[in-house]
Amino acid sequence: MTKKILIFESSPRKKGNTAVLAGQAAGALREGGVEVETIRLHGMKIEPCNHCDGCLRKKVYCTQQDDMQELYTKLVAADGVILASPIYWFSYNAQLKVFIDRWYGIAQIESDFLQGKPMGVILVYGDTDVYTSGAINAIRIFEDTARWVKSGPVSYVYGTANDIGDAEKDAGLMERARKLGEKMAGMLK
Ligand SMILES: Cc1cc2nc3c(=O)[nH]c(=O)nc-3n(C[C@H](O)[C@H](O)[C@H](O)COP(=O)(O)O)c2cc1C
Repeated sequence: MTKKILIFESSPRKKGNTAVLAGQAAGALREGGVEVETIRLHGMKIEPCNHCDGCLRKKVYCTQQDDMQELYTKLVAADGVILASPIYWFSYNAQLKVFIDRWYGIAQIESDFLQGKPMGVILVYGDTDVYTSGAINAIRIFEDTARWVKSGPVSYVYGTANDIGDAEKDAGLMERARKLGEKMAGMLK
């Protein structure tokens, strides 16, 4: 059966750097025979986790009826994920944060939903390096998140690209994003 990777892309800029690098990875995955669905988180109705613990009491992923319900169905069926975000204020952006917070229920009700499935992480930032940009903080969080959901291996691509069009101008960064897709396709063989 064809394997499927979900790409969650959280930039509000449809043609921004995150989208371009996610597209590179998606292209390589498709070339590797993997089905890809890219989901743009910005603009989706995803409410914050209420910590009501309704999920634990009712044994459902979440009691809130918003766009997450459809995403839960897709997440459990996926063979791996790529999380792609711009760095905002020294971490990944709020659109991705609110989405991952909503894994609270699913991580406990169906704790193997990402177990053993590869995770890709794509980060872009305006500053010159992984430290001053704050991308290092996001990477640390992804390490903990992946450990918590037992996802792995985790592959990272990150780099400087500030204005729309900057990622395309950086051949090395584009190639690293393509290679991430290639590597993940290889893991699913
Ligand atoms: C609200 C906001 C906060 C930002 N914070 C940071 C930051 O902390 N570190 C950094 O290096 N770049 C920061 N940036 C720059 C973005 O990461 C950069 O422009 C990136 O290319 C945006 O990705 P996109 O083109 O996919 O939207 C910030 C941009 C915005 C809009």
